[in-house]
Amino acid sequence: MRADDVQNEITKVLVTEEQIQRRLDEIAAQVDADYAGKDLLLVGVLKGAVMVMADFSRALKSRAPVDWMAVSSYGAGTKSSGVVQIRKDLDTDLHDKHVLIVEDIIDSGLTLSWLLENFASRGAASIEVFALLRKPDAAKVEVNCRYVGFDIPNDFVVGYGLDYAEGYRNLRDVAVLAPHVYS
Ligand code: PRP
Repeated sequence: MRADDVQNEITKVLVTEEQIQRRLDEIAAQVDADYAGKDLLLVGVLKGAVMVMADFSRALKSRAPVDWMAVSSYGAGTKSSGVVQIRKDLDTDLHDKHVLIVEDIIDSGLTLSWLLENFASRGAASIEVFALLRKPDAAKVEVNCRYVGFDIPNDFVVGYGLDYAEGYRNLRDVAVLAPHVYS
């Protein structure tokens, strides 16, 4: 669905599907160049990163394998709890791999900083992060993110993988959720 289909539930479209696709092409070209000749592994963080991984991995020209990690730091609410749980671990041994973590959003940064620490002990040749969205004003910890799609304001956003109570992940655009939906 597109933002028009849920216009009463959102206050603003922040990033359109077309803007996302253009930015993914730019970042994919950068990643292709940066990882030329290297053994790149893309690691997606479920569930939010499904859309960005599907589009970003196909925008790459290299045949990068994809693995998934499922962690969760949010319940049905809108604020990070800071508690990270592993719900599904990787299937791949990271030893000597050049890992690029693909995330839909860095909000407080707690999930990624926990993941980076967790991955650091697994013997990867390198670990970098690509986040489609980043909220600089919400950061509680600094995360070294090599590739960023868009910096956005500290609003509750949904769409393109991002949910509210599991809804809106299938919205093609990224939009600000209207407060009446969650208050
Ligand atoms: C979201 C998002 C990131 C994390 C970012 O995941 O996909 O993984 O929150 O927030 P942080 O920077 O404050 O840690 P969530 O835990 O909501 O799970 P989901 O991907 O299944 O929606």
